Order: sequence, then structure tokens, then C-alpha cells
Amino acid sequence: MPVTTGNLIGSIIGAGPGEVVMHQNVSICQSIVTSCFDWGGARNKLVTDGLNFPSNDYIYYGLQRQGAQVCSVESPDGMTLPLELMLDAIDEQTQLVSVSHVAFRSSYVQDLGAIVKRAHEVGALVFADLYQSAGILPVDVGALGVDFATGGSVKWLCGGPGAGYLYVRPGLLPQLQPAATGWMAHRHPFEFEPGPIDYATDSFRFLNGTPNVPALYSARSGYEIVNKIGVSAIRAKSLRQTQRLMERADEAGLPVRSCRDPGKRGGVVVIDVPNGKEVTRELARREVLVDYRPGAGIRIAPHFYTADEEVDHVISQIRSIAGAGGNA
Ligand SMILES: Cc1ncc(COP(=O)(O)O)c(C=O)c1O
Repeated sequence: MPVTTGNLIGSIIGAGPGEVVMHQNVSICQSIVTSCFDWGGARNKLVTDGLNFPSNDYIYYGLQRQGAQVCSVESPDGMTLPLELMLDAIDEQTQLVSVSHVAFRSSYVQDLGAIVKRAHEVGALVFADLYQSAGILPVDVGALGVDFATGGSVKWLCGGPGAGYLYVRPGLLPQLQPAATGWMAHRHPFEFEPGPIDYATDSFRFLNGTPNVPALYSARSGYEIVNKIGVSAIRAKSLRQTQRLMERADEAGLPVRSCRDPGKRGGVVVIDVPNGKEVTRELARREVLVDYRPGAGIRIAPHFYTADEEVDHVISQIRSIAGAGGNA
């Protein structure tokens, strides 16, 4: 199940069969990947973006105990990150570059291709968090040359909790020995051999203990639907509806904090009104399901099932709760 379910994700993110394994969540996948490296040597720098998800940061800063030098590239405005700032931080001391393809707060899209190119030029590897992109934005890990990718299923993949995924570029497998491991990563797991692990030679080497099989069954139909519709069609509709959301917000005088440039905009539109948390609670009471993030605002996320009338409805509801210009 961790591998056959992973195949359903593989076809969404451009990975081949057997190249994606399922885990419980992104935090576990981050721990597994970072446990493959020696952080005590000269190449000890881990470059991450200041828009990355906090769990990832917590794991990276924990690696300082092993000698890692963490360089978090600060976003000038908390919402975007100019590419040059990321590229400038990646140097010969860099072992791993971690990047959120689409930032969770602002839905800002980072240039994964350029980051991979720069990292590979200096001999560093790239770990992409695709949580906010896979299923809404076309991603092709194979074509991009990304070394590791992870994400989960609570958002665009519609698979629910407990179903995170991990992609590792196949050419890297022989050189990676995750210290965070378990019996299912053994070459012969059902021999239950004691002592040091003899790793499986395929992607099973990135498994650990007993997988959460029921969560994987419950996640599969979401991936099947996304595969069936196709991410290109989903993206085309998403761009149209996020544009519509911003136009309606402009008309209502509500402050939009998302990127207007469609190339830099993920699937979420952020509207920043005062008391956004309370407004979001009232929206939920009115059965309008959006989300609020401190430092950003109200996140509205139309997907393949969202009707245009719902897009218009959410803006008129925010306007009626928050008032003109977002002032309640
Ligand atoms: C970019 C990103 N990474 C990771 C996560 C969640 O991590 P985990 O699967 O460990 O709960 C989220 C959830 O919002 C996210 O947006």
C-alpha cells in the first residue's frame, strides 16, 4: 500500500511507478530525508526559505545539534521571496536546499527549476515541499530534476489526514542511508534480522515501521479523481476562479494580498481584513468554508468542485461581515 498508493501520487507530480512512498505526514518525510546526511562536516549548510512551513523549520533547527548551519532566507514582506535572494544563499557549503514550492500563507509560487539548477551547480540537493502545489499546479519532479519531494493530502489532493508522500530521485537511492528507518526498509523485512539494517535497494528503503494502511485506502479516491480530471484542467479553472475572486474583492473594496501575476499565484486568494480570525469563524457559521492564517489573512481556496456562484458568495459574505474596505 505505501508504494501502490504512492503510484497514484506519482502520476500527479511527474514521478514514475515505484518512486513515491507513503508516510503519515510531511514532518516524518522531512525527518527521514534529513537523516540521510552527515551534518558535522564542511558541507553542513541547509538553506531554507523564510516562507517554509513551520514543521520543516523545527526539524531543520533541530539538526543544529548535529552541526547543521541553517540559513533561512527571509521574505521581505512575509508573502513573497525574490528568486535572487534564494539563489544567492546557495553556495559550495550547501548540502541541502529546502523550498516550499507554493508558500502556505500567501500561495506565492517559487521558481523550483531555477533553484534546482543553482543547487546542482554547486553540488547541493533540493528538497521540495509540494503540499500547496500538487493537485492544483502542474508539477513534474522528473523534468525539474528535484531530488526529494514531499507533501500531504489534506489540501488539493482531497485524501484527508495521515497520508503524506515522499519522492526520492531514483539515481540517488544507492547513496542514501536514512538513519530514521525501520524494519520495512530492510531488504528482507520479513526475515526480521537483528543488527544494522541492510537497506532495500528500491524506494522501500525510505519506509520505516508499520504503515497506516486504512488512511491510505481512504486517501486513494481523492488521488483518483485528481488524476482523472488532470492537473492542467484543474489549474486552468483555478486561475480563472482566483482571478474572479480578486475582481470581486476589488469591487467590494476588500484588500487582496495574493500575487496578481498568475505565474506566481497558487490556488489560494488571501484577503486581509481586520479581525480576520473572527470573520472566518462567522463565515464557518454561515457554512462558508475558508481558512485563516496569522500574518496573511483569510485564505479562499476554490477547487475543481467550486461553482462560480460560490466564489461570488464568499466575497459578498466577507463584505457583509467585515463591512466596506474590510472595516467591521
Ligand atoms: C507547505 C506545507 N507543508 C507541510 C504541511 C503539514 O505538515 P504535516 O504533514 O507534517 O502535518 C502543511 C500544512 O498546512 C503545508 O502547508
